[in-house]
Amino acid sequence: MDKDIQATARGFHCILCNVNIPNKASLEAHLKGRKHMTLSNVRATRNAQVEHSVFVSGIKPDTAQADLVGYFQQFGPVSEIIMDKDKGLYAIVEFNEKDSLQATLAKLEHDMNGLKLRVKPRETKEFKLIPKKKQDFKNLKQILERLTPELCQTSSVNEQMQEVVERFQLGENEKKARELLVQLLQEVFMEFFPDCQIVPFGSSVNSFDIHSCDLDLFLDLDNTKVFQAKAKSSSEQEGPLDDARSEDSILSDIDLSTASPTEVLELVVTILRKCVPGVHKVMPVSGARLPVVKFLHKELNLQGDITINNRLAVRNTRFLQLCSGLDSRLRPLVYTIRYWAKQKLLAGNPTGAGPLLNNYALTLLVIFYLQKCDPPVLPTVNQLKDMACDEEVCVIEGWNCTFPSQPIAVPSSKNTQDLCALLSGFFSFYAQFDFASSVISIREGCSLPVTSFFNQDKAHKDAEEQEKSRRPKLGPFNVLDPFELCHNVAGNLTERSQRNFQRECQEAEKYCRSLQYQRKSTKGKVWGLVRLFTPRDDVNRRVVEGAERELAISVPFKPASLPEALRSQLHSADDGFRLLWFQKVCSAVEGVFQKVLRCSLTDTAIRTNTEENMAPPCGKSAADQGEDTSRPASTSSDCSPQSKATPRAKRALPSSESSDASVSPQGKRPRLDSYSGPQPDSPQWTYVQTHRVWAGRRKVRRELVKGVMDVDSRPEGSSEELETQVTQHIMEKEPEDKEPLEFQVQAQLISGTESTKAVISFRPSADGAGLFQDFYHFLEMFLPKMADTLIGKMV
Ligand code: UTP
Repeated sequence: MDKDIQATARGFHCILCNVNIPNKASLEAHLKGRKHMTLSNVRATRNAQVEHSVFVSGIKPDTAQADLVGYFQQFGPVSEIIMDKDKGLYAIVEFNEKDSLQATLAKLEHDMNGLKLRVKPRETKEFKLIPKKKQDFKNLKQILERLTPELCQTSSVNEQMQEVVERFQLGENEKKARELLVQLLQEVFMEFFPDCQIVPFGSSVNSFDIHSCDLDLFLDLDNTKVFQAKAKSSSEQEGPLDDARSEDSILSDIDLSTASPTEVLELVVTILRKCVPGVHKVMPVSGARLPVVKFLHKELNLQGDITINNRLAVRNTRFLQLCSGLDSRLRPLVYTIRYWAKQKLLAGNPTGAGPLLNNYALTLLVIFYLQKCDPPVLPTVNQLKDMACDEEVCVIEGWNCTFPSQPIAVPSSKNTQDLCALLSGFFSFYAQFDFASSVISIREGCSLPVTSFFNQDKAHKDAEEQEKSRRPKLGPFNVLDPFELCHNVAGNLTERSQRNFQRECQEAEKYCRSLQYQRKSTKGKVWGLVRLFTPRDDVNRRVVEGAERELAISVPFKPASLPEALRSQLHSADDGFRLLWFQKVCSAVEGVFQKVLRCSLTDTAIRTNTEENMAPPCGKSAADQGEDTSRPASTSSDCSPQSKATPRAKRALPSSESSDASVSPQGKRPRLDSYSGPQPDSPQWTYVQTHRVWAGRRKVRRELVKGVMDVDSRPEGSSEELETQVTQHIMEKEPEDKEPLEFQVQAQLISGTESTKAVISFRPSADGAGLFQDFYHFLEMFLPKMADTLIGKMV
């Protein structure tokens, strides 16, 4: 076994990544996964560096690197020297060969041109990932404790929100320090990349700055490329250019017109490590969407990022600045919602990794909500484009990024809601938002049906491939970048993180309806934003989740994992795609119980949602109240959900008629906001199970596939044939139960009021032997996976 892995009572533990792993299949996936591979590589590189290098002290600030190379080369070839940039008192000398290290350490005294040097082996530190979670949670609580008295002293939620801005925004000195660091970097980088520009973007400059925010920088090399091209052509024609910069600069090592981003970033790493005082912990991160070099400025305690090819981010930073200038309510709203999301562990992951919303995505969610208010607080991006003048036209990488440069060009909003109302409106809006079937478009100011992104045209393979690379990665949470329309800024989110976000919005919405939110306490109790900001830890979350457990299993709408043929069908169904998908789920559920688990069907019915029926778990039925039209059905195919048009309240649309299909590679799309289409009835089945087909399945499956292939590569629920055989095997070998289990299953489509999903609820009607709990426990894992597998085979 891998030396990082320990066997535990509950599976395995990876010491390197500090995670628990339940079984062998997950262990294999973990060992091949990005986190484990990256950490293993970083550790291997660090170990190799330590084994090849020595620590040298006794040097002077004016000691030249070349002198050190000259001196230490007597022991063997030197691969790198890292000087102490700040005080110039030590250096790390790295050799190509380990033998050179031994030779250096064997010499008792080192005298370099009269300078007595002390040479030591490097200290070996155990490479370990330090878990930050508990510490983070403690910090969240402490910050809130300090904030609470200040917030409670104010007289309204509006004032509290302004106070949040005051409390978190960067002070003048902090801003100045950032400017000075940018200036320093600009000067150093100019030495190596003539005419380059260091351009800040992101939170430091987009008007949503907070004390700890990082410093995002874009290294613009366009002018340097021009400089290099000129230098090259004139040296070919007339010999070297009369510009000393071309000879000294690092440019002699690299051709910017052909170099890959990784090659350029390697140079950036070298410059930061060797030449910028105060900069430490320089680390290239190539796995990110855009490769980036991270660094820390020690004295300023400032985390910085440098990227190249990131002109769109500079432009969207300008867009966020413009939005702040358009309506003064945006800043307090964004600060409050960012802080709320951080406290609830929903957004603002400091490392940018993990399935949480990033701050940019969260800010876009606030902007989208403000576009959807009635009347709108902010215009759509298409409307802004139409308000720009000719000089403001801006196209980057083929994307139209035009908008007015000054807020004055945009008429003010007619919306007069105060901050308190807008904040509670934000929670209500997303508490009821159908994330699974929508794509949020800030460009058009509306949500688009996810199925309109499914590509139908397969006639031309190349065209399809090309289109694919310009299509957003769809998932449970879809927010299109306002300019780069093929980028889903929330594409990293999982279903779980989407659910958590929506659940927190639902809880916040409930709280915002209470007097405790709206009015200052006369008894000195906490009120307003304070309770909204109470951090939620994972433990609490699990307790709440446990308490909410009901006999219902969700099958979420996961468009990204559907087979291409079915995606095309859903695409053609326009507004009816939910209904079509629900029909497929119902057929799959029937398949799971009848074919795979061999349950006998004793009754079927079609039900509209009356009080007598099994209530859906969230109490939010998609269909309206109606007469009970339950009727016996002779065959299972009669039991497919029927559509029934039900009038539903329409949300008012903002006046965002202008839309620009030309800027979108997707073209114009139908809007989702006005959807009030047919809602299906809920089919219900009654089944009898005579055998405990859930008990010992894993063992039987392992025996059946023995010798065929590794069982771990056929996870539970991934093969209809295999699972049917497993059931059959159990039924043949195990005795029939004397008191067979009878249970009802009802499927219901939930959509429009939250993320589209099918909820399969259960009710045991005869369970003399007390078997249902075990069976249900098995179904919780098995049913969604098996249903997905069966849907995957349907067309
Ligand atoms: P962040 O999500 O870090 O936002 O993205 P932020 O506002 O800087 O917040 P902090 O730093 O977490 O406090 C930084 C910038 O990167 C660009 C945007 O310009 C954003 O402002 N960005 C981020 C994108 O262009 N696309 C993305 O998907 C994410």
